[in-house]
Amino acid sequence: MKYVWVLFLAVFVAHSQAFKFTRCGLVRELRRQGFPEDKMRDWVCLIEHESGRRTNVVGPRNKNGSYDYGLFQINDGIWCSNSNTPGKDCNVKCSDLITDDITKACTCAKKIFRIQGFLAWYGWRNHCTHPSDLPDISMC
Ligand SMILES: *[C@@H]1O[C@H](CO)[C@@H](O)[C@H](O)[C@H]1NC(C)=O
Repeated sequence: MKYVWVLFLAVFVAHSQAFKFTRCGLVRELRRQGFPEDKMRDWVCLIEHESGRRTNVVGPRNKNGSYDYGLFQINDGIWCSNSNTPGKDCNVKCSDLITDDITKACTCAKKIFRIQGFLAWYGWRNHCTHPSDLPDISMC
């Protein structure tokens, strides 16, 4: 019985940690997703302030009634659809932005960046505009 409990705990801990990247784990994944090296520290800074590197975060309700989803805290007022079909400007379901596979979230974040730049994210505006703010990823 003790072993069952230990096994249960191990699986539970492994699962809940799977939603949070380490800093270097995130860098590795962003490279895999094709994010350019010259803006890597900005993306890491943005993600650390928006979601704490957690893939499954749904933010608190915004003043205008919208919600933000996932690693990049992407807004459902504009970018993702809360219905059962993909929609809005990223043509994606919000529920697909909070999965461990971050491919769809990355595609949408790149689109937001193409249109609005990093200024689209308060996490970046408020915490990542000075070069000295940016996280050290030299060990990654
Ligand atoms: C609602 O507020 C959020 C957070 O301030 C913002 O990102 C989003 O663009 C707003 N949505 C609309 C439709 O104005």
